[in-house]
Amino acid sequence: MNGIDKQALYSHLVETYRNNHPRSYELFQRAGRSLIKGGSHSIRLMDPFPVYDVRSEGARVTDADGHSIIDFWQGHFANVLGHNPPIVLDGLRDYFAGGQGLLTGFPGMLQMELAEILLSRVKAERVRFTTSGTLATMYAVMLARAYTGRSFVIKIGGGWHGAQPYLLKGISHFREGLDELESAGLPRHIDASILMTRFNDMEDLKSRFKKHGKKVACLILEPFVGAGGFLFAAPDYLRLARELTEKYGSLLIFDEVISGFRFSAGGVQKFYGVSPDLSVFGKTIGGGMPVSAVTGREDILKLCCPDAPEASRVKFEGGTFSAHPAAMLAGKLYLKYLIDNEDTVYSTIGSLGDRARTEIENILRSHGFFVRCSGKDPSVVPSSSCVGVHFLNEDAEKVRSPEQVWNSRLADFEMREKLFKMAMLNEGFHVFHGYGAVSLAHSEVDIQASLDAVDRIGRLFSSFRK
Ligand SMILES: Cc1ncc(COP(=O)(O)O)c(C=O)c1O
Repeated sequence: MNGIDKQALYSHLVETYRNNHPRSYELFQRAGRSLIKGGSHSIRLMDPFPVYDVRSEGARVTDADGHSIIDFWQGHFANVLGHNPPIVLDGLRDYFAGGQGLLTGFPGMLQMELAEILLSRVKAERVRFTTSGTLATMYAVMLARAYTGRSFVIKIGGGWHGAQPYLLKGISHFREGLDELESAGLPRHIDASILMTRFNDMEDLKSRFKKHGKKVACLILEPFVGAGGFLFAAPDYLRLARELTEKYGSLLIFDEVISGFRFSAGGVQKFYGVSPDLSVFGKTIGGGMPVSAVTGREDILKLCCPDAPEASRVKFEGGTFSAHPAAMLAGKLYLKYLIDNEDTVYSTIGSLGDRARTEIENILRSHGFFVRCSGKDPSVVPSSSCVGVHFLNEDAEKVRSPEQVWNSRLADFEMREKLFKMAMLNEGFHVFHGYGAVSLAHSEVDIQASLDAVDRIGRLFSSFRK
């Protein structure tokens, strides 16, 4: 049913794209002379060349060729309020005008304030900041290993926790399953220390713990899997994860880098009523600046103190730019806004997301594609701003697992990331994971325009059926 001539369609799309983006192409060529592949983050560098942005505001980004693009990527899904919200920009302007400045290397008060805000919204005792989700998940795993004196980590197939050595396994390379190391250059023996389990598979989790539980330092998972498909953990699954980690003396770590402050002004853990030992936050908590945090139990986090016992002391203590004052201020203003306006923010973006998911699925199915949208589970959240689009090879009622997303027999990743993404860009929309995350800056009109574009694309794709 999906069967289209992808090569011919791609050539058609690329021709339009190249004609529309001569300046971005020039910049790409220049960038390639100094930067690897023209940039510093692989998924920003789409083929045949990326669009270079010059300005952004609200829902939109203006690119180097002057196109005003409606953006659903929104800073790696960090921008719940859209690009450059005045609440942050005005606050930073006043701050700099008031004589406060860049990095001093003193502790500063703003980090206290941001930590207090986090603790008011997340069930945890202490916070430590760093600068990226990657570093924060790395430190969380180190803390778990040190605290338990064990070395095994259980990770979910399809889980993405940043490119850090302890968790670069079983992310998106599907062979028999999601269980291979996905980078060269990793420490020896790391493969054997990362045990994989399938997301939402209670029996698999039980058997992992039964077999290895006494050696497991932690189970780390995203309660809302991001890169693995915009999928929610089932409530029973998270309860089981809590039960098993307690039973075997392992720690439970929730990676809330995407889900934190995305579905409410706090962690998604609140909806489950399950509290982990450690949580990791990033993206949204920086208000557009590089901030991440590990929150959790004091007895675990205090292992990063210089006076912790030598054998269990964790060097989660460096970072020239950790708790950078301007970033702490941006985070504080952002979270305060989200907390003060929690009801309206999340119901607004959630209902726009709900509409986009339902209608995109209907539109593309009406054009004969086995499409399913993900991003919501009504048993967990009342509404959701996250919209994943999946072109399936075999029809299914729902996308349920990262295995389904990354197994090329079941889903056509190329259709989504190569063809649909470029087609949407040619229509003036920047999408990710098929669509992305709706922000408060998006309007009903933006969503309707995107649905009209999806309809035109459905028709275009159909015209390339073999
Ligand atoms: C769930 C999750 N954890 C960790 C990370 C890594 O965060 P960062 O890119 O800030 O290093 C990401 C990034 O997308 C993520 O989605």
